[in-house]
Amino acid sequence: MAELTNAPPVDVVDDAERRWSYVVGGVVACVFAVIILASVHWAAQPPSNVEAIDASRLHLSGEFMEGNLGTEILPDGSAVVHVIAQQYSFVPQCIVVPTDTRIVFRVTSPDVVHGFLVAGTNVNSMVVPGFVAEVRTRFDRPGEHVMPCHEYCSVGHEGMWARVKVVDRQEFTRAYGGQRRASCVRQ
Ligand code: CUA
Repeated sequence: MAELTNAPPVDVVDDAERRWSYVVGGVVACVFAVIILASVHWAAQPPSNVEAIDASRLHLSGEFMEGNLGTEILPDGSAVVHVIAQQYSFVPQCIVVPTDTRIVFRVTSPDVVHGFLVAGTNVNSMVVPGFVAEVRTRFDRPGEHVMPCHEYCSVGHEGMWARVKVVDRQEFTRAYGGQRRASCVRQ
């Protein structure tokens, strides 16, 4: 007489384990497929503005020369702010922009990776040497924002910050309208 037992026959257990090993293998294959497809996709379509620039020649010519830094009002009324992030300061130290204006921040670094963040807004980007970080925004209200570097960039990192002053559009035109590049440094 066979012994009475609740355990299933050995071949049923084998089948169940084999089925589960196929399921787990399938899940692992799916995860790898997602990782590979996502990598290929993002490599082919970078998530943000990728504009290369020679980090060693910024001071020699072009928009990031010292005299070209600051806020430029374009003929269509929009503003472009050219900013350098370097160990351990932003140039200009005080950025002034008008309210109710399309604003493009263009920021680059001559040395290491820095962070570009305007507190209280969604303006937030890494600044990588060799590339121009471009952020588009608009300010509805006048006010002042701190602009700290938020990527650790060595010993002076915590002292690296600037200010963004948002002034009424008419006041901006009155105070800075005559300047080729506006900034609130020395005010
Ligand atoms: Cu620059 Cu931290």
